[in-house]
Amino acid sequence: MSRLAILGLAARVRRQEILRGVDLEVGSGEVHALMGPNGSGKSTLAHVLAGRPGYEVTAGSVTVDGVDLLELPTWRRAQAGLLLTHQYPVEVPGVRLVDLLEAALAARELPAGALDRLGERVAAEAERLGMPAELLARGVNVEFSGGEQKRAETLQLAVLAPAFAVLDEIDSGLDVDALRTVGARIGALVAETGLGVLAITHYARLLSVLRPDRVHVLLAGRVVRSGGPELADEVERIGYERLAAELGVELAVPPPPPERDPFADPGF
Ligand SMILES: Nc1ncnc2c1ncn2[C@@H]1O[C@H](COP(=O)(O)OP(=O)(O)O)[C@@H](O)[C@H]1O
Ligand SMILES: [Mg+2]
Repeated sequence: MSRLAILGLAARVRRQEILRGVDLEVGSGEVHALMGPNGSGKSTLAHVLAGRPGYEVTAGSVTVDGVDLLELPTWRRAQAGLLLTHQYPVEVPGVRLVDLLEAALAARELPAGALDRLGERVAAEAERLGMPAELLARGVNVEFSGGEQKRAETLQLAVLAPAFAVLDEIDSGLDVDALRTVGARIGALVAETGLGVLAITHYARLLSVLRPDRVHVLLAGRVVRSGGPELADEVERIGYERLAAELGVELAVPPPPPERDPFADPGF
């Protein structure tokens, strides 16, 4: 049983404070949903957790079983058991999924035989996810459709079997059948491997397949409300604007201070 603990996390991008004190705890085998409108900081949180350059943590902590992730480079965070599936996966020409997975697994201290029959396992996983085998011969995500990219992200999750996964809009780009397949696969990983999930999404749609234990609403860089699965339905029904008004909180992050123009009249 592991715990991913995010405490008082604040972060800025360029000069703008985007996360303004996020508290979240996810345990093994738990599914937490993080919902919020466009621009509320959901992807920023995902990037900060993964250690993407350019995102500056100004307060708070992120730990897995007491190990401080913020002190570690991205690859060590992955070794510590954290995986991020991207909202916008990038193309990696010349590197097939099996190559990527082989390198990622080889970098971990795994028992002997962990890489055995990797090609077969990847092919079986692709079939389970309804991903055409032809895609496995291409570079990762190269000319994949939106839905194929999200299946490829799910395939990596299934093969790498991390302790915790942050899913940044794994549902976007998926049609209703693909959503069911991907949601069910992730649900099976939770049940079978004890995967802990932080599922970032706009919509309750994903959550009808991947049932969350807890739902959190992020508005303007803060978790303003947490509850059970019914909170997702409430959000869907009333919308973020009304929720913000009812809670008396801001809907959006305030704009950054104006950039100082070095050529402007200094005023003296
Ligand atoms: N790398 C970046 N450079 C500039 N602004 C950014 C960057 N990343 C995020 N932001 C800004 O931070 C805010 C939150 O963005 P994001 O976290 O992507 O929101 P969400 O995923 O909730 O839609 C937005 O105003 C966005 O423009
Ligand atoms: Mg986003």
